[in-house]
Amino acid sequence: MSNTLPGFFEGTEMPTAGWWEALWPDPASVLAAVGVTQGMDVIDLCSGDGWFTLQIAKAARHVTALDIDRNLLDVARHRLNESGTTNCDFIEGNAYDLAKLVGEPADFVFMANAFHGVPDRPRLARAVLEALKPGGQFAIVNWHPRPREETTVLGEPRGPKTELRLSAKETTAAVEAGGLKRTRLVEVPPYHYGAIFSHPSR
Ligand SMILES: C[S@@+](CC[C@H](N)C(=O)[O-])C[C@H]1O[C@@H](n2cnc3c(N)ncnc32)[C@H](O)[C@@H]1O
Repeated sequence: MSNTLPGFFEGTEMPTAGWWEALWPDPASVLAAVGVTQGMDVIDLCSGDGWFTLQIAKAARHVTALDIDRNLLDVARHRLNESGTTNCDFIEGNAYDLAKLVGEPADFVFMANAFHGVPDRPRLARAVLEALKPGGQFAIVNWHPRPREETTVLGEPRGPKTELRLSAKETTAAVEAGGLKRTRLVEVPPYHYGAIFSHPSR
């Protein structure tokens, strides 16, 4: 499956089968592990169908979901409406433009399962820096760089192709080149890690 939208990041298509829910049975615990807390204004960058967005809305003060694919934003909007949450905005656009698109600076930018496909990662990090309040944080949840055939879910190899996967070291170098500083690294079993960065003024 591929997406032909201009600017679409390689290998970041939203899975169509039900394996995403099997891989992420407890998205709220992922958010807790990377540090999303009550009172925060959060941007869910490359939010997809809203699987994490809904839990961010429950955990934080407000969430802005940003994605390039308007059909997925519609699915996310429906998911949050159904659950009765009202503290969410939905923005269609390219992640590189997030500061301009969102307007108000955020306490936290959360980006799951998309950073591996970004062609110019320092550029994205600079864009995130611009969208954060002083002292704000950026969390990236990435697939570990394991061979795709090893990362099975519901009996099938899943996730981006092996060559696209990034180590925590590569992710850190790319984001620090954009001006943020890594503060923590957490395991997100079974196949992911979370790298957490801070605005340098912290
Ligand atoms: C694999 S999905 C992950 C969705 C969600 N973060 C999750 O983990 O459930 C990656 C998302 O990135 C979005 N995306 C791809 N390129 C983008 C871009 N240039 N700007 C914003 N979103 C983009 C896709 O539309 C897709 O929804």
